[in-house]
Amino acid sequence: MSLLWCAVFLWFGFISTHIPVTSAEVDPLSKATFKYYLNEYAYQKSKSQFRVLNSELIPRSSSSTCSLCKAGAAGFIQLRRIGVRKRTFVKVAKYVCKVAGVDDDVCNGAINLNVDALLYIIDNTPKLEAARFCAVYLQSSGCEQPDGYDWSINIPQGESVPVEVNEVPSKPLKIIHISDIHYEPEYVVGSLADCTKPVCCVNASGFPENGKGTAAGIYGMYGDCDTPWVTVLSTFENIAKNHPDVDLIYYTGDTIHHQIWNTSVESNSRDLNQLLLKLNESFPNVPVIPIIGNHEPSPVNVFAPTSIEEANLSSNWLYEVFANNLKSWFPSTVLNTLKQGGYYTVKIKNNLRIIGLNSNLCINENWWLLYQDWYKDPGGQLQWLVEVLLEAEKNKEFVHILSHVPSANGDCLKVWSREYRRIVER
Ligand SMILES: *[C@@H]1O[C@H](CO)[C@@H](O)[C@H](O)[C@H]1NC(C)=O
Ligand SMILES: *[C@@H]1O[C@H](CO)[C@@H](O)[C@H](O)[C@H]1NC(C)=O
Ligand SMILES: *[C@@H]1O[C@H](CO)[C@@H](O)[C@H](O)[C@H]1NC(C)=O
Ligand SMILES: *[C@@H]1O[C@H](CO)[C@@H](O)[C@H](O)[C@H]1NC(C)=O
Repeated sequence: MSLLWCAVFLWFGFISTHIPVTSAEVDPLSKATFKYYLNEYAYQKSKSQFRVLNSELIPRSSSSTCSLCKAGAAGFIQLRRIGVRKRTFVKVAKYVCKVAGVDDDVCNGAINLNVDALLYIIDNTPKLEAARFCAVYLQSSGCEQPDGYDWSINIPQGESVPVEVNEVPSKPLKIIHISDIHYEPEYVVGSLADCTKPVCCVNASGFPENGKGTAAGIYGMYGDCDTPWVTVLSTFENIAKNHPDVDLIYYTGDTIHHQIWNTSVESNSRDLNQLLLKLNESFPNVPVIPIIGNHEPSPVNVFAPTSIEEANLSSNWLYEVFANNLKSWFPSTVLNTLKQGGYYTVKIKNNLRIIGLNSNLCINENWWLLYQDWYKDPGGQLQWLVEVLLEAEKNKEFVHILSHVPSANGDCLKVWSREYRRIVER
């Protein structure tokens, strides 16, 4: 998906070099770099073997990648500031996406799903600058952060106190960890497993013909296929049957399929409800701790602040889905923070406390990190984590922290990762 957005922003960068750009953000070097790439593009295209932004053209990590990004993002922001309308952005973005060789359905779906949030954020963040955009979006390519975007969490002085263990339990806890189910409700046995779209094994993939192509198996398929429901059921049944002594089940998210161009609040809610209900049903006597993955919202990765309530922008429906399911599993205190940002804590037997984070909030493809000041501890989650850990320390509890996106993995905002680490290393 990065490829798609790079292509789209690049094109806006191109346009911006053809309109009077007053913004000082596009420095001469960026413009020159941009023109260089455009020439390359024209050259390669004439050889008609070129995909707009392949890895040779855009090195993964270099200052020219950042210059290019800045030119593109500045163009995009500038055009919006001078009043260019949504339908124009959509039209141009779809054109570029198509030229870039991305599948039509993927282009149309991904652009329709993302454009509202992007434009809303630009419109409501007057100080948003291209350099900031690229520092977040391309942080793993080393794009430098402009000044003024640092923040930190208040952490109490002193070191944490280890919990004394007086009595070693007779048997260790048995925990089953399930993750990334990526349930595909449209899975069709026998459909093409090696199709032309990014996700196969669905009706739209087509079917093998004249002995060509691989057919999707009953329980799933290697390659670009997600998980059929029978496999989910079989997994849960197997766990229940073979591990009757399990103490706890951790489910660390990503229930939703990889057809990221074809998500919706309705279908994501439906699939999440189905999965959470089945977890509850399959393990009636075992605490199950489900957390939210980056594929849960629609569009993927995009988590809005809870203050954003507009239809098509809000993420609150997702927290409601979790709260509705979990309200019969856990004490009601769990629901407060769940609705505040998709995270919660619950105390389990043996003095064990689980903290289920929504670390997806820190993901660099979450456009809302560019919105006003929301990037400063989005959802108030890390400050809350400090308080929960302090309380746990006072009560001599052991703590397990569950999260979907690992901190410091390149996708998670660097400042967030740094602060998370300060908290857990205290
Ligand atoms: C989107 O998913 C629905 C089923 O939920 C399917 O019928 C439709 O063909 C898909 N559309 C695209 C463009 O993939
Ligand atoms: C599956 O695809 C075929 C075309 O390959 C179409 O005729 C049929 O309606 C589709 N079925 C479903 C359930 O989407
Ligand atoms: C989960 O299962 C319990 C019984 O094990 C039941 O009381 C509760 O209503 C179920 N929750 C949901 C959301 O179905
Ligand atoms: C936006 O919301 C309206 C209704 O609130 C809905 O009809 C439309 O499909 C939504 N658009 C997207 C892209 O989700």
